[in-house]
Amino acid sequence: MENAIQIVPAALTDLPDLLRLEEACFSAPWTRKMLEAELTGNQFAHFLVAREAAKNAPADGAIVGSLCFWIVFEEVRLMNLAVAEQMRRRGIGAALVDAALRAGMTQAATRAVLEVRASNQAALALYRRFGFTQVSVRPAYYSNPVEDAVLMEMEPIVVSSGSGRRVAPVNEGGSVPAH
Ligand SMILES: CC(C)(COP(=O)(O)OP(=O)(O)OC[C@H]1O[C@@H](n2cnc3c(N)ncnc32)[C@H](O)[C@@H]1OP(=O)(O)O)[C@@H](O)C(=O)NCCC(=O)NCCS
Repeated sequence: MENAIQIVPAALTDLPDLLRLEEACFSAPWTRKMLEAELTGNQFAHFLVAREAAKNAPADGAIVGSLCFWIVFEEVRLMNLAVAEQMRRRGIGAALVDAALRAGMTQAATRAVLEVRASNQAALALYRRFGFTQVSVRPAYYSNPVEDAVLMEMEPIVVSSGSGRRVAPVNEGGSVPAH
């Protein structure tokens, strides 16, 4: 059967897979404790995963992407976006961001913000494509390696109909092949 990718909410049982993805994607990864806190102890936090799924079946395959974001009143804060290296450039990162922005809009959020390493060309390109713009730089904000953070913002939140549609969002039928 053909595999596809679906965007669904993360569960606490996903913790080991989320930690593995985190450690594979970042030089200063979130710890198990940090991930667990976002999954269980933060009323503002939302956690989505991109999962492989057999066509027209529940998304119960491998986790190949994740996004933690907060909705704090009028603001969506993108906190942690990761896509497995072998699955990049297939629209999974964009689908996760698209789902977060749409979730924010349903809760009346009007602004979206994020921080990104100044050298992270892939993420910068992705966010710019959504319409995020640079608002400031925080010098030496990150460690391991020490690096500036670029602060980006989108206000109002605008999500175009094509922005994340190569991958099926939560509770929608369409999907694209994973391979
Ligand atoms: C950044 C990241 C999440 C992107 O995920 P992805 O699934 O590959 O992104 P998408 O396929 O949805 O890309 C959407 C668009 O973003 C841009 N983009 C993504 N990766 C890019 C790259 N390496 N170089 C240039 N542009 C890129 C492109 O415009 C792309 O559209 P296109 O493929 O049609 O040209 C992924 O590279 C990653 O996990 N990196 C390591 C962790 C990380 O840096 N997280 C972000 C922290 S702020």
